[in-house]
Amino acid sequence: METVALITGANSGLGYAIACRIIIEFFTPRSDGYPAIPETGSLVICLATRSVEKAQSSIKNINDYLLLSRLSPEDVKSRLVLAHVTMDLSSPASVVAAAAELRNRYSRIHYVFCNAAVVPFVRIDWLMAARQMATNFIEAMTVPRYKIQGVGWLAETDPKLYSSSSPSNGGHAAEQPPELGAAFAANVFGHYYLLHEIMQTLRAPAVAPANPSRVIWVGSIESDPLTFDIDDIQGIKSTQPYESSKTLTDILVLGSYLPASREYFRSFTAASNPSSEPATPANSIPPVFLIAHPGIISTTIVPVPWWQSYAKNAGFWLCRAFGSPWHCIDPFVGANAPVWLALSPHVDLIKGRKWGSACIWGSGEIVLETQVDSDVAAHSAQLWSQMEALRKVWKIRLEPRR
Ligand SMILES: NC(=O)c1ccc[n+]([C@@H]2O[C@H](COP(=O)([O-])OP(=O)(O)OC[C@H]3O[C@@H](n4cnc5c(N)ncnc54)[C@H](OP(=O)(O)O)[C@@H]3O)[C@@H](O)[C@H]2O)c1
Repeated sequence: METVALITGANSGLGYAIACRIIIEFFTPRSDGYPAIPETGSLVICLATRSVEKAQSSIKNINDYLLLSRLSPEDVKSRLVLAHVTMDLSSPASVVAAAAELRNRYSRIHYVFCNAAVVPFVRIDWLMAARQMATNFIEAMTVPRYKIQGVGWLAETDPKLYSSSSPSNGGHAAEQPPELGAAFAANVFGHYYLLHEIMQTLRAPAVAPANPSRVIWVGSIESDPLTFDIDDIQGIKSTQPYESSKTLTDILVLGSYLPASREYFRSFTAASNPSSEPATPANSIPPVFLIAHPGIISTTIVPVPWWQSYAKNAGFWLCRAFGSPWHCIDPFVGANAPVWLALSPHVDLIKGRKWGSACIWGSGEIVLETQVDSDVAAHSAQLWSQMEALRKVWKIRLEPRR
């Protein structure tokens, strides 16, 4: 019995912490049925990173970390496999190549953590920062409105990599590949495309009790419906493309359960097959989409100089001292909710809601349900339809590479 978990962005911050935490929880069974995994099976953690060197360095760090943990060295040696795959989520061609490798390696992937993300950060607006901090310090350290982001930034897609003509586009001459907003590509679309490409490994046997694969999308407490425009789902015109991508993630995941989006979800979860599509195996069930966020943690997702980083962490500690539950600070604590969504035995109770890692001064870490302000019902069908349309356009562009 092998349980396989794929983690994107696994070389730093939350992704690395999810890898460490899932190993610890997997090999530390409790009496309450958590984690919901066989006590004898092995665990394969596949770290998805942008380079082999980054993956190798993470594997070394995880091994060093486990040596200091309370886990039995025998368990770790005989039942844990640390593997890696290289992919750039901003490049659909890179995603296709990585997906082919994953399909060859694994017949079933049980958990996918869609964690990797970028903030198209330009600079801090110090005047706005001073104003927001003076008005509400905790809000300023939770949902900062003063990080100025690049407007109109696109993912770099090398046209030479993509098909110039193919039978499926009528053999027409080359068009530029469809543009992808930078934050949208890395944070959402790259993952979305990957999931479809590995769908055959995500479909579980239809046996009772049902045990679907779980896709855990990493959202954010910074989601805000005001940053999202259904007519610009890629956030290309947005002044807050990161927040737009995270709001989109909320709607995509929570909308996957709504009747209005059912047809799109069904088409998306039909297993792709290298030669023909769709090729959904009979008697299999699709994965479930779940969403968690890490609260606020100390990472380098917004690249600021060292002294600002120190000041930011001091601010986080102050917020925690003043009672903010969301300032988890330590990425391992931030990994609580995502890992809990993977290993909880109660998948029917946790789906369709957004969960966050939280930490209460004096009591420790907990998982809290998080309010979603977006009108998911109003937008989900239109969003799913646009995501599927974009996926199909890219599929045609990439077809000859299969
Ligand atoms: N930090 C927070 O307080 C916070 C709060 C809410 C939500 N989150 C969420 O937590 C997740 C992890 O963020 P983090 O704070 O841990 O940031 P981080 O340390 O910067 O990690 C981001 C990871 O994503 C990878 N990545 C970025 N672009 C990629 C691409 N095009 N292809 C493949 N990998 C790519 C990075 O790889 P490279 O090293 O190669 O760049 C890195 O491993 C994100 O989804 C973020 O939105 C974080």
